[in-house]
Amino acid sequence: MSAFWSAWVTVITLAVILGCTWLLLATRKSQPHQEQTEETLGHEFDGIAEYDNPLPKWWFQMFLGTVIFGLGYLALYPGLGNFQGLLGWTSAGQWEEEMAHAEEAYKPLFAKYAALSIEDLQKPENETGLKMGQRMFANNCSVCHGSAGTGAYGFPNLTDKDWLYGGDPATIKTTITGGRQGAMPAWGAVLGEDGVRDVANYVLSLSKREGIDTEASARGQTQFQALCAACHGANGTGTQALGAPNLTDNTWLYGGSFEQVTHTIRNGRAGVMPAHKDLLSTDKIQLIAAYVYSLSQK
Ligand code: HEC
Ligand code: HEC
Repeated sequence: MSAFWSAWVTVITLAVILGCTWLLLATRKSQPHQEQTEETLGHEFDGIAEYDNPLPKWWFQMFLGTVIFGLGYLALYPGLGNFQGLLGWTSAGQWEEEMAHAEEAYKPLFAKYAALSIEDLQKPENETGLKMGQRMFANNCSVCHGSAGTGAYGFPNLTDKDWLYGGDPATIKTTITGGRQGAMPAWGAVLGEDGVRDVANYVLSLSKREGIDTEASARGQTQFQALCAACHGANGTGTQALGAPNLTDNTWLYGGSFEQVTHTIRNGRAGVMPAHKDLLSTDKIQLIAAYVYSLSQK
């Protein structure tokens, strides 16, 4: 927080505390110095009236106590920007200290497991390393890929053998470190609506879908060889170097219904896997990659 807002909060807090104190003392003074009176405040409802008694002494003292506590707290622990309080405590400082402690405590453990190859990390005796990878996966990856890594619409399943970019240890590590950017062009303008329908029929015939319009599919095949084969391969089995999916296996990133496939062809797709090289150390990426690799080895 900037110094201005620190001062702003401090001044308002002080003003409120002083205001409450003044109110407390002012109302006490105006009341008779006795614990009980027969006087009422003058209003009455259903025969019930309110005595004009001062606050009980214990209550008044508790009020004063909270005022003193408030002032003490403000002096010791504000932790706001430049006003660090007499103890110099800040929440950011405490967090940094705890992180430094954790780093110190876990560094040898990370170093031990990160020195192993991803294949060696699959061995039962290195289960702890894999568990560490699993926890880091939960923190960093599960928002997109699901807590079990099974993915969702637009987010690939990491537990199957169907890979956009490749499922060997080195490729998984490259994907996590540098991120990936899927680039499926939009073909609506090139093919027209009929052309999109033809190609979609052909694409769905590749995974033996029932109810294919065979004439449309034949026309689509010609278009596919001209426009799509460069990335998806002449047989539609995909090209991992480009992240172009296999279209013959009935595993779909963006859904396999006729509507979803025509939508993909018409409008294109651009899935983004964020790079993690600035977010996670190489030791951590090694353990997460080992965990991801383990998911498809069962
Ligand atoms: C913001 C969402 C998001 C987060 C966070 C994310 N991913 Fe991804 N990931 C994606 C998307 C989207 C793709 C597919 C990219 C594409 O369509 O080309 C992907 C692709 C991948 C692939 C390639 C799959 C294949 O079939 O080749 C791997 C491996 C992967 N992610 C692992 C991870 C790991 C491990 C983490 C955590 C460190 C992570 N991802 C975090 C969205 C995310
Ligand atoms: C420049 C390379 C390239 C060309 C050309 C290309 N694609 Fe793609 N296609 C991709 C990539 C990359 C993806 C994955 C997009 C992503 O990950 O977000 C993809 C995804 C798809 C998908 C979605 C698959 C799924 O699992 O949901 C379909 C369907 C598809 N393409 C069909 C076609 C058709 C039909 C053509 C020709 C008209 C075509 N593609 C041309 C690269 C290409």
